[in-house]
Amino acid sequence: MRKERLAALDQESSIVLRPLRESDIAAIIAIDERTSGKPKPEYWRRKLTRYVQEGQFQSDADGSVLARVAEAEGTVVGFMVGEIRRWEFGLPYCGWITALGTDPDRQRLGIGRRLLAELLDYYREKGLEEVRTIVEWADGDILQFFHSMGFVRGPFVELQKSL
Ligand SMILES: CC(C)(COP(=O)(O)OP(=O)(O)OC[C@H]1O[C@@H](n2cnc3c(N)ncnc32)[C@H](O)[C@@H]1OP(=O)(O)O)[C@@H](O)C(=O)NCCC(=O)NCCS
Repeated sequence: MRKERLAALDQESSIVLRPLRESDIAAIIAIDERTSGKPKPEYWRRKLTRYVQEGQFQSDADGSVLARVAEAEGTVVGFMVGEIRRWEFGLPYCGWITALGTDPDRQRLGIGRRLLAELLDYYREKGLEEVRTIVEWADGDILQFFHSMGFVRGPFVELQKSL
């Protein structure tokens, strides 16, 4: 096995997944800014603080939201938010991935795979049969990630119109 691969496996084993805390939000804002190139602090604060009470993440009473971060040596290196939605696009129940990101310096170490695996297990436990997300066609890296995780093109078509 190559030396780099061994080093990567070593790093991967030191990464732990845990529930989101309010104090993680700044790190998530920073990771997203580095991966997308656009700062969106208000968006993340609004999206994530909805689920935080007394500093700890609380899912809705019906357990419809799961938020996790990946931590390495006390630093947040990845995050994921999933939401179970009822009747979105006419689907009685569906699990959605609404946010997923890995620190650019820690990508390709299996962090995204581990975060996603935890979400999929959660959805399976909840009895869901499908999980969906939306990504840009032009974003080859993200498409590659989801394809390699077994995702295929779904039955919906996005429509838009210039105004
Ligand atoms: C998509 C993303 C979360 C993947 O995170 P990651 O921690 O690097 O992913 P992993 O290391 O677990 O990758 C698992 C597998 O996915 C595939 N993959 C991941 N990134 C890839 C890339 N850039 N190109 C090709 N394949 C890729 C590979 O098959 C990889 O396995 P391998 O490294 O053994 O070959 C990360 O690239 C990211 O944060 N992108 C920007 C944020 C974003 O747009 N998120 C999606 C919004 S829903």
